[in-house]
Amino acid sequence: VSFREDGAASLDWVASYLERVRDLPVLAQVEPGELRERLPQAPPDRAEPFTDVLRDLDELLLPAATHWQSPRFFAYFANTGSEPGILAELLAAGLNQVGILWRTSPVLQELEELTLDWLAQLLGLPAGLHGHLEDTASTGTMTALAAARQAKPGARVVVCSEHAHSSVDKACRLLELETRAAPADEAFRLRPDALDLSGACAVVATIGTTSTSSIDPVPAIADACEREGVWLHVDAAYAGSAAVCPELRDAFAGWERADSIVVNPHKWLLTPMGCSAFWTRRPDDLRAVFSLVPEFLRVSEEVASLSEYSSALGRQFRALKLWAVLRCYGREGVQARIREAIRLAALFEGLVRDDPGWEVVAPRPFSLVCFRRDGTDEENEALLERVNASGEIFISHTKLNGRYVLRLAVGNARTTEDDVRFAWEVLRREAARAPA
Ligand SMILES: Cc1ncc(COP(=O)(O)O)c(C=O)c1O
Repeated sequence: VSFREDGAASLDWVASYLERVRDLPVLAQVEPGELRERLPQAPPDRAEPFTDVLRDLDELLLPAATHWQSPRFFAYFANTGSEPGILAELLAAGLNQVGILWRTSPVLQELEELTLDWLAQLLGLPAGLHGHLEDTASTGTMTALAAARQAKPGARVVVCSEHAHSSVDKACRLLELETRAAPADEAFRLRPDALDLSGACAVVATIGTTSTSSIDPVPAIADACEREGVWLHVDAAYAGSAAVCPELRDAFAGWERADSIVVNPHKWLLTPMGCSAFWTRRPDDLRAVFSLVPEFLRVSEEVASLSEYSSALGRQFRALKLWAVLRCYGREGVQARIREAIRLAALFEGLVRDDPGWEVVAPRPFSLVCFRRDGTDEENEALLERVNASGEIFISHTKLNGRYVLRLAVGNARTTEDDVRFAWEVLRREAARAPA
């Protein structure tokens, strides 16, 4: 069978998958190790046809997939691998570019720079920022903190709120820095009056925290960072995409003063997994940490390679999928998806609020609703387990002020009002059912 035939069959597989994914159990209904056991324990000696791969994808692999593409996926921060993004992934694999130097792939480097510039414009960021793509926000935050550490020798503390993402702690562990958690206020925002910058090389402020999507007061934090000469890193991994909507820009006040910013197009900007945007206004500080040009990589052209601004040498062609998304949706298309997710989250929040047996437990600036059922932590946890075990929807949880809290995040572009009402019905049905 030819590449063309297998290719057509694969594309057809993806198209039908997307058509039926709403009806598949959202959370994989398998036990740990079950898939491993069902697969051959040794690789084949003889070549097998690609059609066998597709068959096993259906019969063996699919049951072990948790369906992030499902419109009924409401856990963590829901995302979307959109059609233009999916196709661009295929094209990028076809080209198989390796960006170690500008000359090894001018298209990779220049499209990445241009696309990051486009995205900065869409999000209302200032002109002239240096942008590049990382695989994840975790890597981006580590990149920022490595530069901050180098820029302020001797200062070993990174300040962030207790609600900052765990990737800050992880980066600090790897970089031998120390995290100092600043207290948060009643709306889960970092309290700038309690900011202690002694010995600090960086502050990580979050716009859209992981637990509640709360917004740290970036302008006040930026004032303090400027006074003390401390690097300000803004983590807007989830919420940053919402800045494409002018009516939401207040949430992003001050982020233009950051030394570095991360936003994940693979969260709320329709781009398949593995696309995190990073901007800095201090590219020389990144280069001071990451540029290392051995003899075999010396070239005559005077172009700094993007690999001089982060830890990977061989860089993937990630920009193609983001560029395709920005072109095929346009500013208006992206705005429409963000607004609809927020509308649906507001609708869900209203359903929870109007029911006396339930409580909304955090402000909702974007598309994440934090709520709980009246009752104990154990009852709420058991409710989450029952709901997720049903396979009908998938939600996640957090702890706020020591209490167990349910989280419903709208972020899949295929989610409709019916899906959100369905989620509420499943929650109410399972809440009414006494645990076994
Ligand atoms: C605020 C925030 N920062 C960082 C991350 C980490 O993102 P990534 O998985 O791209 O490393 C997340 C993930 O949800 C997040 O919510």
